[in-house]
Amino acid sequence: MKTFITLMTILTLMCTQLLQADEDYSKGPGVAPVNNPLYATECSACHFAYQPGLMPARSWKKIMLNLDKHFDENAELEIDEQNALTNYLVKNAADFSNHKRSVKIMRSLSREHTPIRITEIPYLVRKHNEMSSDMVNGNPKVNSLSYCEKCHRRAETGSYSEREINIPGYGLWEDDHS
Ligand code: HEC
Ligand code: HEC
Repeated sequence: MKTFITLMTILTLMCTQLLQADEDYSKGPGVAPVNNPLYATECSACHFAYQPGLMPARSWKKIMLNLDKHFDENAELEIDEQNALTNYLVKNAADFSNHKRSVKIMRSLSREHTPIRITEIPYLVRKHNEMSSDMVNGNPKVNSLSYCEKCHRRAETGSYSEREINIPGYGLWEDDHS
């Protein structure tokens, strides 16, 4: 009996360790996936629908108040749609999320900083600084860091794990940087 209990303890410990090694999968995706159909349609015409958990509420408010001058584009909406989407973004913003990436995003931002680009957030700037400009802005298959889903193959599910990155024209990131 004693050996049996010891054996079970060892097995349990081994399983816990395996689960912890695969952090992203055991705790769910890095950010909560989009679950609002109106948002998924209206905000995915020019880029993929960024998850609300990628920016603080104050940033989403600023973006939603300036949709007529949205990064050189006009992304204006009917006022009731604008209000509904602002509401959705604010409620699910990084400030109110326990998902791993949202927490790291909030930790890296000072209170005075209200970025209107996800790609300006210190945590994400740091994560992306190993790439050369040829891979991003100079890469006709990517164009800019704003097109997350070009490289993060499972971005739409809210997962940005290192193991799921494929830079168009360059291949899997993991192959060279493990
Ligand atoms: C008419 C096209 C268009 C629509 C519709 C649109 N956007 Fe954009 N958006 C852009 C462009 C262009 C950029 C800048 C991309 C770049 O710099 O390469 C951008 C950038 C962004 C960024 C910053 C990305 C970064 O670089 O970190 C956010 C956040 C964003 N949009 C949110 C939204 C939201 C929310 C909606 C829906 C209300 C929306 N967009 C609808 C064209 C659009
Ligand atoms: C040109 C390709 C490319 C684009 C576009 C891109 N990324 Fe990345 N991303 C990478 C690479 C490469 C890494 C570095 C992985 C590593 O070694 O840690 C990374 C890392 C990350 C990480 C940290 C992953 C980890 O395991 O530590 C997050 C989160 C992330 N990116 C989110 C985004 C978001 C959000 C966008 C869009 C606004 C975006 N990325 C656009 C290539 C890209």
